[in-house]
Amino acid sequence: MNNQIIKGFSNLSKEKKLKQVALLTQNPEETEKIFKTFWIQDEKTAKRFDEFSENTISMFGLPYGIAPNFIINQKKYFIPMVTEESSVVAAAANSAKFWANFGGFKSEIISTIKTGHVHFLWNGNYNKLLSVFVELKDRMIAKTNNITANMRERGGGIIDIEIVNLTAELENYYQIKATFETIDSMGANFINSCLEEFAEELKLFLQEKTIFINKEKNCDIVMAILSNYTPDCLVETSVECKISDFAKLDIDMEPEKFVQKFQAAVNIANVSTYRATTHNKGIFNGIDAVALATGNDFRALEAAGHVFASKTGKYKSLTNVELTQNNFKFTLKVPISIGTVGGLTQLHPLAKLSLEILGNPNARELMTILSSAGLANNFAAIKSLVTKGIQIGHMKMHLINILNTLNATENEKEEAKLFFENKKITVENVRRFLNK
Ligand code: MEV
Repeated sequence: MNNQIIKGFSNLSKEKKLKQVALLTQNPEETEKIFKTFWIQDEKTAKRFDEFSENTISMFGLPYGIAPNFIINQKKYFIPMVTEESSVVAAAANSAKFWANFGGFKSEIISTIKTGHVHFLWNGNYNKLLSVFVELKDRMIAKTNNITANMRERGGGIIDIEIVNLTAELENYYQIKATFETIDSMGANFINSCLEEFAEELKLFLQEKTIFINKEKNCDIVMAILSNYTPDCLVETSVECKISDFAKLDIDMEPEKFVQKFQAAVNIANVSTYRATTHNKGIFNGIDAVALATGNDFRALEAAGHVFASKTGKYKSLTNVELTQNNFKFTLKVPISIGTVGGLTQLHPLAKLSLEILGNPNARELMTILSSAGLANNFAAIKSLVTKGIQIGHMKMHLINILNTLNATENEKEEAKLFFENKKITVENVRRFLNK
């Protein structure tokens, strides 16, 4: 392929885009056919999905599964999870079932505040700006009255606006830092719209106020954008049981030994960044899957979670274990900024149904559900890791993928499942089994 830039690709019809892209593959005709098998048949729905993004040429399917039997704050849920990883739903379901015997997950919203900034460069006297900031703040709030009207009616809106002087770290750098309550929406568009108005008002204000001398009349608005770091949109979820209760767990280990190794695993994640990354990734296996199923932005959740895990200056576990003589308590504290209205949550037919399956929770309740799924997955992962190892369960769930990759027939798949019931599953072992 030459490196000539193609112009107007986005103006082509879906059919023509697909044709052009298919030419990049070895068998364009076959490629087109495969892509088209994933086209949504219903025209109206197809159009809606195509319009979620740009240059859509097909749909990319992921399994939509259910982790049943979650008890969260005494309420039962069937949690929808969208993930490609074979063991995630099973792990969540196993944990949920176990913890249902001990009162389930207890989850508490700590705070729901979101933050955004106007980042600007200004060569002026900070104290002067500070002395008139109350007036600027009032003007900013007034300027966004139209945008915030609905949100205020629902009990949300702008919480506060302040000015942050960061000139010691970057020459002339200041922030207008604003905090928001966005109730049941994730709020990205709402926050960004407010921030852009604040930026406009700041420019006008500097021009108009006579207190500012000539060089102070202009500022350079670098950008106005919400922050995906949401340490004040926080949920804490825990499970708790007697140590002796682990005798009922399907593990070949004394409960005391189990909790001791479990705690050691969490301690290790607190001192080893390498381990903490995988440990926290396992938490996001659960959180992301529910975020996807409910039409929420999992990248934002991941970004916030990983920075939160580094809040002490060292990247650590997001979960914590407390052991007393008889008791085991396992807690996850994580920022979760999501919505149940706005974005794709009501536009994507399956996201909408996911919320219905969950009993149409508000955003606060959905925070408790996502964090419970995260804690459940972390519990399942550590339980496996410190007992029989992760591969037995993982590979058992993955066996079907290996068989499909090796083009096994339906009969061979059934026989392989029986054969590998108590045997070590590796790609090589499965290949050897099929060759026999
Ligand atoms: C795999 O997706 C997640 C785990 O690696 C998490 C962990 O190691 O804690 C099993």
